[in-house]
Amino acid sequence: MNLPESGAAFERVAETYDADSTDAPVSRWLRQQLWTWLAELFPSGSHLLELGCGTGEDAVWFARRGVRVLATDISPQMLALTARKAAQSEVAALVQTQPLDFARPETWQLPENAFDGVYSNYGALNCTANWSALGAALARAVRPSGYAAFSLIGRFSLVETLWHAAHLDLRTASRRWRGMGTARIGGIAFPIYYPTPRVFRRAFGAAWRLRALRGWGVFLPPSDLYGALARRPRLFRLLCKLERLVAPWALSAYLADQFWMVLQRC
Ligand SMILES: C[S@@+](CC[C@H](N)C(=O)[O-])C[C@H]1O[C@@H](n2cnc3c(N)ncnc32)[C@H](O)[C@@H]1O
Repeated sequence: MNLPESGAAFERVAETYDADSTDAPVSRWLRQQLWTWLAELFPSGSHLLELGCGTGEDAVWFARRGVRVLATDISPQMLALTARKAAQSEVAALVQTQPLDFARPETWQLPENAFDGVYSNYGALNCTANWSALGAALARAVRPSGYAAFSLIGRFSLVETLWHAAHLDLRTASRRWRGMGTARIGGIAFPIYYPTPRVFRRAFGAAWRLRALRGWGVFLPPSDLYGALARRPRLFRLLCKLERLVAPWALSAYLADQFWMVLQRC
């Protein structure tokens, strides 16, 4: 499989991805909130599809709870790390890995109605804007009444805008507003797309009904500013409390660094 730029970029940083990103305290805290949320949707015994699994952090967590996961990614190195993590955690029997390009659903060969749900976290789906084709393909792969749960990077991050505007960097302060930009990871540039929850939900199509929407990162900074917070543990704890308070408000999904959306297959 030819790697698109987004895949080539993550392929290059796969070995250090957990140390640089997954294990950052803000990342860990957010993932903990995410897991609490996902646990309600997908009980033990479910069979799930994951898109852009990265190093397999979520797949392994699910498998430890008795959920079977087909963990997919475009990066062979990410898939190898997922398989390794599953083996080390003794849940290899529940985590299957498979290369899959979520930007090109027309190339998939997934069985119909085979999954109880699908999920994709930490902005993987910001690497494509082909959400309409994705919604249609997932409507075939997920059984009726099954859930789709996604966390994506949003278009308007209040904290990011205020932070960079205060540092007179107006270009970075407004970098997401056009709905697309260029990310650079491992020295490789690739296009990145920033939908609002409304844009994403509409693109996903009529086969899916919106069930829940939350915003995370109204107060907590985006990942490039995590370092600044790591040195201020009391501030970190205060911001976490505030996040929990505002996350359930729909408006927060429009102002936060990332939004989480649950859709249900009609
Ligand atoms: C930001 S990481 C998120 C990883 C993981 N979901 C997590 O929670 O840590 C994005 C992942 O999407 C994958 N990816 C990027 N473009 C892709 C594509 N077109 N198809 C499938 N996976 C892709 C990358 O290889 C990377 O593993």
